[in-house]
Amino acid sequence: MRAVVVNEPGGVDALEVVERPDPEPRPGEVVVRVRAAGVNRADVLQRQGLYKPPEGATDVLGLECSGEVAALGDGVSGFAVGDPVCALLSGGGYAELVAVPAGQVAPVPEGLDLVDAGGLMETTCTVWANVVMLGGLEAGQRLLVHGGGSGIGTTAIQVATALGARVATTVGSDAKADFCRELGADLVVNYREQDFAEVLRDDPADVVLDIIGAKYLASNISVLAKNGRLVIIGLQGGVKAEINLSALMSHQGSVAGTLLRARSAEEKAEIVADTVRHVWPMVSDGLVRPVVHASFPFDEVAAAHQVLEDSSHIGKVLLTT
Ligand SMILES: NC(=O)c1ccc[n+]([C@@H]2O[C@H](COP(=O)([O-])OP(=O)(O)OC[C@H]3O[C@@H](n4cnc5c(N)ncnc54)[C@H](OP(=O)(O)O)[C@@H]3O)[C@@H](O)[C@H]2O)c1
Repeated sequence: MRAVVVNEPGGVDALEVVERPDPEPRPGEVVVRVRAAGVNRADVLQRQGLYKPPEGATDVLGLECSGEVAALGDGVSGFAVGDPVCALLSGGGYAELVAVPAGQVAPVPEGLDLVDAGGLMETTCTVWANVVMLGGLEAGQRLLVHGGGSGIGTTAIQVATALGARVATTVGSDAKADFCRELGADLVVNYREQDFAEVLRDDPADVVLDIIGAKYLASNISVLAKNGRLVIIGLQGGVKAEINLSALMSHQGSVAGTLLRARSAEEKAEIVADTVRHVWPMVSDGLVRPVVHASFPFDEVAAAHQVLEDSSHIGKVLLTT
């Protein structure tokens, strides 16, 4: 099979299409014939040498895919060869075939195009695990999600809106602001023009989903509502910051940080199952959809990564086989 790897970390030219042996399913695994793979910020970091795959994971890039079931390992039930599926991966999505534990495989939600489903798993599972399973967001509460135009942001806005929450978000352009409002955000801050902490001073957030890290830590804590939860999932603004514990305590607040990729197969299976139970009906009802900015054929993987580097996209970039 053909697969994309990085031999020497670097720019988009570091991405190489190579031949690899077809995967055989081990017990409990499903082999998926990949139709589309989502391109995630984590793939860019991995290409740059800034994000190592977890112990035991393949060096082939790609954290999510859609396609058809090609083979089943011993002990797998609930899937048949040929079924349209999507999968959450520890790596290996940028390939024609990938083997994945069955607990990380899900049916394509009713009514969703198989290619679009390639960009569904990583964002929906991340958003559901952090905003709802961990953050406990409820109807009527305020979510603040940074980077509303990102794959994560466009998903968080839709899922939270579908839950009946009120969504605030930050973006870096007017085009992204307009799009986020269309998706359901009622408060959009262009972070290049306004300070989100000022804007949310009188309308604080019950849950903050943060992708910036150090640079936003103090402001994120300052906008927490009473009992507010700050969940950090990205470090685009640095890894080290001082925390004003007094400010956190005065909000009865809590701060958490999580990584989806590094979790065990059991934990991922639990997240996938809960996401399928709650988010798939939202997709089938048309309340949540993967926002696909562009699809690139496999051989144009460098161009796909360049879009993320430029941050010119809204939503997801996909690779198709
Ligand atoms: N921990 C986990 O398990 C996990 C899982 C999935 C994703 N993530 C993280 O989630 C983030 C989004 O991932 P993605 O694949 O959806 O990335 P993406 O589509 O490439 O989006 C990155 C976003 O960051 C925004 N941004 C940059 N600087 C900003 C700032 N100062 N304030 C607000 N927004 C800013 C960009 O918006 P502008 O261009 O408008 O500035 C862009 O929309 C990444 O940091 C990724 O590592 C974490």
